[in-house]
Amino acid sequence: MRVVSSIEEMKGLSRGLRKEDKTIAFVPTMGYLHGGHTELIRRAKGLSDVVVVSIFVNPTQFGPKEDYRSYPRDMERDLKICREEGVDVVFTPEAEEMYPEGFSTYVTVEGLSERLCGVSRPGHFRGVTTVVAKLFNIVTPHIALFGLKDYQQQLIIKKMVRELNMDVKIVTVETVRDEDGLALSSRNRYLTDNERKVSRLIPEALKRAEECVKEGVSEASCIIEEMKKVIDRKPEIMVDYIKICHPETLEDVERVEGEVLVAIAAKVGRARLIDNLIIKK
Ligand code: PAF
Repeated sequence: MRVVSSIEEMKGLSRGLRKEDKTIAFVPTMGYLHGGHTELIRRAKGLSDVVVVSIFVNPTQFGPKEDYRSYPRDMERDLKICREEGVDVVFTPEAEEMYPEGFSTYVTVEGLSERLCGVSRPGHFRGVTTVVAKLFNIVTPHIALFGLKDYQQQLIIKKMVRELNMDVKIVTVETVRDEDGLALSSRNRYLTDNERKVSRLIPEALKRAEECVKEGVSEASCIIEEMKKVIDRKPEIMVDYIKICHPETLEDVERVEGEVLVAIAAKVGRARLIDNLIIKK
């Protein structure tokens, strides 16, 4: 496994691989890898000749009061996991090289970036699309893989790729969950034992929404009320939003008809957790 930090070296490596007609699958991450990431890596291996994983805690996607500095980092552990998973190249750029003094070019997907998480995290998705566009230019993958836990993120990235005519295929992979249903996330590490237990109500609320639809309820407001009843069992969960919306536009729907996205964001202790489910009627 090669570990590359320099942007020029990564570009050269990718150029060489493409000359040899190798297909490159790319898994961009912010490190502190968990089962969700290893699932992406495994899927990537089945789709390509070479798997590149990037590990970069991207400063531009964190707000001034967010957890950029304290975001969990453990490069040695991450490299060990990548090695065990048979990753070919790990790209670990430095923030100073990604964002040199005077950096002022950003990629924004308007509209979608302002909905759901974009309301309480203004600028977050601009940071994501900017870094992903840069990483795509450096790694030049044929395929890039993203998890559906970050549903809004993958939707925005697909739109960016489409509208900027980027030559990369986006593959999405189902959310990986712990036994009690909690979606895996690097931020779960912030949870105390009690907070960890309480957090399982987030996927339970999503399940409640699914049950409601099965029982024949289609009013979005009634379903959201039922979900709130589940969440309200534990005061430690501070809801940011519970939304039922169109899976492509992310606009609120009044009734569940066809396919909808049910999405939750909540703070539990220091951790901001997000989760979602696609429900079909
Ligand atoms: O999902 C993440 O870990 C990040 O948002 C990403 C896509 C690696 C960009 O920094």
